[in-house]
Amino acid sequence: MTKPVLYLVICGAGPAAHIDRVITLARDDEWDVCCLATPSAVEHFLDLDALEQLTGHVVRTGHQRTGQPALPKATAVIVAPATYNTINKWATGIADTYVLTQLAELTGLGVPIVVLPFVNTALAANRVFARSVDELRESGITVLLGEGGFVPHPPRTGGQAMDTYPWNLALAAARSAKR
Ligand SMILES: Cc1cc2nc3c(=O)[nH]c(=O)nc-3n(C[C@H](O)[C@H](O)[C@H](O)COP(=O)(O)O)c2cc1C
Repeated sequence: MTKPVLYLVICGAGPAAHIDRVITLARDDEWDVCCLATPSAVEHFLDLDALEQLTGHVVRTGHQRTGQPALPKATAVIVAPATYNTINKWATGIADTYVLTQLAELTGLGVPIVVLPFVNTALAANRVFARSVDELRESGITVLLGEGGFVPHPPRTGGQAMDTYPWNLALAAARSAKR
């Protein structure tokens, strides 16, 4: 039997360096994990070869090239760590990168999407960010922000928030889409 497919969309913030943690949890949950990564995640945080080994899929950073296998259809999507930048651009309808185009399409298709942000309190205090989170929620997307989800940390303390980043909550939310 083929496994349900989880797209893991990885943006450029600290927890991306620990993305193996959520992949391991997802595989324990019987997901077939396909990673999609933003240019910032690739430049600063990811080891693409290690990710390919772990998931069995090439990490998608751009549109499918000739000869490259197509991604299987997503059962559910987790965006984590979700940056201020990606959340705002996506909510505004900007689709000027591969990842943002995918998110726009997946949203329009109604595929279940869970967003686990990683932003500090200064970024989270911006009105535009609050508007973006509302907009995504109104589009049916699960944004795990606030009590019971990701709680923003003070600026310059992100390094200390790494070990408590609640990957498990994103997976629990995605799990309900599998049933
Ligand atoms: C070392 C480093 C740490 C960063 N940490 C964060 C962060 O915690 N949250 C965030 O929203 N952006 C963070 N950024 C900034 C984003 O990477 C930047 O806004 C980038 O444009 C995001 O692109 P993306 O949304 O396409 O991944 C960080 C950047 C670097 C280089």
